[in-house]
Amino acid sequence: MQQVEKIAVIGAGNMGHQIALSAALAGYRVKCADVNPEILQKAEQFVDNYLPERVAKGKLTEETAKGARDKLSFTADLKEAAADADFVIEAVLEKLDLKRKIFAQLDEICPPHTVLATNSSYIVSSKIADATRRPEKVCNMHFFNPALVMKTVEVVKGPHTSGETAATAMEVGKRMGKTPVLLHKEIYGFLVNRVITAIRNEALYLHDLGVASYEDIDTAVVNGLGHPMGPFRLMDLVGIDLLYDIIMNRYQDSGDSSFKPSPHLVEKYVKGEWGRKTGKGFYNYPTS
Ligand code: 3HC
Repeated sequence: MQQVEKIAVIGAGNMGHQIALSAALAGYRVKCADVNPEILQKAEQFVDNYLPERVAKGKLTEETAKGARDKLSFTADLKEAAADADFVIEAVLEKLDLKRKIFAQLDEICPPHTVLATNSSYIVSSKIADATRRPEKVCNMHFFNPALVMKTVEVVKGPHTSGETAATAMEVGKRMGKTPVLLHKEIYGFLVNRVITAIRNEALYLHDLGVASYEDIDTAVVNGLGHPMGPFRLMDLVGIDLLYDIIMNRYQDSGDSSFKPSPHLVEKYVKGEWGRKTGKGFYNYPTS
């Protein structure tokens, strides 16, 4: 497996900034890039609040917090972020064209040894790898929200991915304190999203039918299955905009009416009630 010391995270949104901070806390030198200055500022603000809070809570030593902060920088310049990276984790919007464009740029910018991983929730890396001249160095590395907390990372080896690349991604995940799992084959939704999609679809179906309120469905799942949060609260955490994009892409790609999004989900999307990030989804959240 390859030596990794410098990581670039592309995209500082919901997932990107927490992946970047997790890597910095693990001792990697990390540059996190985003084209949107507002998102960059929000990400940096999060880090500057989070680290002292963790120290105050006794969860981190001052030294570790300072070390992580010193190792993490934010930039609007993709070239600055990726030019000397050993390993890149792309965490931009779930738009295939955008990801392909970024991977083609990264291929130009990065040294030949650099591994290019995508954090996509469902786009397999074989749809992206041929935008580069290094398909053997391209793989999926899928984190879960909130990335600072959730331990699972899915590393997916596409037919083009070398064993060395997959082993490197597994090792990076381990060093970040995660419990990575390796998928030997590409499959839509990987492991966890396939399971959670089944639960979410059933919950939406029951709500659309008027069988129970979303609050009661959440309560039943929390208390009946021991999940930390119910499927509706989880949709708010993940982002209803992201889920809408994922579901619509699958529906449009397949033409299969069984993938048609739930009317309640569409309504939330159209109203801009996208969950925690907008202060309202199925539930209300304080905006800070
Ligand atoms: N960012 C960083 N840390 C957070 C956080 C956040 N947004 N929310 C909570 N935490 C931390 C807290 O600081 C706390 O840490 P500590 O115990 O070390 O002090 C810990 O998590 C517990 O937090 P709380 O006590 O405030 O709240 P909960 O006990 O209810 O935990 C939760 C919150 C971790 C989000 C928990 O409810 C949970 O695990 N929910 C399920 C999350 C889940 O299923 N994620 C996967 C989503 S699917 C996905 O991401 C795939 C993608 O492709 C769509």
